[in-house]
Amino acid sequence: MKIAVIGTGYVGLVAGTCFADMGHDVICVDIDEEKIKVLNEGKVPIYEPGLEELIAKNKAKIVFTTDFDDAVRKSEVVFIAVGTPPKPNGGADLSYVENVARGIAVAAKKPKIVVEKSTVPVQTCERIIQVLDCNNGDGNGNGVKHTVVSNPEFLREGSAVVDFLKPDRVVIGTDNEKARNAMEELYAPLKAEMVFTDIKSAELIKHASNSFLAAKISFINSVANVCEKTGADIEMVAKGMGLDKRIGPSFLNAGIGYGGFCFPKDVEAFIAISEKNGYDFKILKEVQDVNKFQKENFVKTVEDALWNLNGKTIGILGLAFKPNTDDMRFAPSIDIVNALLKEGAKVKAFDPEAMERAKTIFGDKIEYCKDKYEVAEQADAVLFLTEWKQFVEIDLDKMKKSMKQFFVFDGRNIFKPKAMRAKGFKYESIGRL
Ligand code: UDX
Repeated sequence: MKIAVIGTGYVGLVAGTCFADMGHDVICVDIDEEKIKVLNEGKVPIYEPGLEELIAKNKAKIVFTTDFDDAVRKSEVVFIAVGTPPKPNGGADLSYVENVARGIAVAAKKPKIVVEKSTVPVQTCERIIQVLDCNNGDGNGNGVKHTVVSNPEFLREGSAVVDFLKPDRVVIGTDNEKARNAMEELYAPLKAEMVFTDIKSAELIKHASNSFLAAKISFINSVANVCEKTGADIEMVAKGMGLDKRIGPSFLNAGIGYGGFCFPKDVEAFIAISEKNGYDFKILKEVQDVNKFQKENFVKTVEDALWNLNGKTIGILGLAFKPNTDDMRFAPSIDIVNALLKEGAKVKAFDPEAMERAKTIFGDKIEYCKDKYEVAEQADAVLFLTEWKQFVEIDLDKMKKSMKQFFVFDGRNIFKPKAMRAKGFKYESIGRL
């Protein structure tokens, strides 16, 4: 099938590339000329394992362009995959989605299937239909009739390609038979479980899924806090809980909280759209509070152990919000580093992929190290904030040799407390004594 994907961010670029790999002809569009130039040179503007290779493999089936009108006219299906960033009031800024919808209406000479793939609040597609109808010709809804489909994306950064090609489910929200058939044909190569719903339910599935996962994390983090106070071990508790099939073992890792561009933004937007529609989604406000507490409590643990932070050298291992990404948006590391700096600590840091991004966030307020061992040199404490494989495999004896004091704070429960203390570290983690 001939498809256009508008927006080459995480979702758009991965979706476009994977659709090409599934045999479709894809035109990826972005207004950012520099980004399109980079993509046409065979490079990828984001760090995402496997993506560059997949683009190279499918070079003949993907076009990267800034020519929006041409892409729309040449395609049967047009995906909207532009950003929906948070507004100061917590709601999603949908102006990019609106602009794209208007652009499609103006450019298209024939009916299109317009697929909303960006994460948007429920009722967004109603607005897209309105914009398409108002801009498709004479302004009275007498122009070309397009069909709108909601098809939320559930891929995770760091495993985006695999998640897209092997999804748990593909959600399609439409009440139009022709559009349903087209979407079935489009996704057929994946042989995935397809869930067909009305448009609003599909939109809601995305916010509800991400908020539920965020709630699961805040729940296990709350249990971890009780573990710390009572002497229980969160890993054993999580294992015992996770074996119950109704609970499941994933997303039960306690730590310094969730980050990234999806969970914080989507929880906030879900609260906002619920409130707008007259429902106070209190449980999600608590999810946010717990997530904030995890970071504050971690800094307090460091401060309690070191006595004074002023003048202490703190080494940070891991700045990205999770491993296998260079993304630092809403990363717990940002709040933690800023809190340490505020108390007068000297911070040095290393991340395998996020160093360039970190420089734009912290500027010259912290020292950037060339590798994981340099972080430990003359450090009073080392803080593990992201569970990168290379940190899990760190040579602890080598690290310890260059430290000034042997405090280790493990925000991701990477190491075993007993083994760490046996090595002579003063070790603290989350929900384990
Ligand atoms: C998430 C959703 O998983 C995905 O379906 C959606 O499309 C986008 O949002 P992503 O933001 O890439 O994906 O990250 P994910 O792997 O889900 O992790 C989110 C955060 O939760 C990370 O900061 C991670 O460290 C944290 N987390 C995850 C925990 O603290 N504990 C866990 O047990 C799992």
